Amino acid sequence: MKIHIVNGPNINLIGRREPGIYGSRDFDDYFLELQSRYPRIEMAAWQSNVEGEIISRIQEVGFDCDGIIINAGAYTHTSIGIQDAIRAVTAPVVEVHLSNVMQREDYRHVSMISPVCVGTVFGFGLDSYRLAVEALIERLG
Ligand code: DQA
Repeated sequence: MKIHIVNGPNINLIGRREPGIYGSRDFDDYFLELQSRYPRIEMAAWQSNVEGEIISRIQEVGFDCDGIIINAGAYTHTSIGIQDAIRAVTAPVVEVHLSNVMQREDYRHVSMISPVCVGTVFGFGLDSYRLAVEALIERLG
């Protein structure tokens, strides 16, 4: 099973950025633990701050992997281009957020990508990614 994690803008600063909201552990450190937890799953993590690069990455991996886990960061709330890329590919896509976006500003309550994702996990900090992996494993059997 091959799962690609696609992280959007500012997710590279997790651990340093607003630790009261996002925690103080960085993503790369968490990802090593996530990989060791699922030794039989081929997992790759990638990040970009650039909307077009995120779209290209979804196109690149979305036809030949078993699932994508995406944290589109702030583009979640604005990007029809990312929505269209998710619509276009064949892999199921799970949306994740570390924070509970529903407890935050109104503009974070809207997701352009939720309608085209198989599901969304938010509010569990970095553990949102593990829960998304579990959801994909369950779905893919
Ligand atoms: C986020 C939530 C977004 O609203 C925000 O813009 C982020 C991070 C999260 O993981 O909680 O950059 O996607």
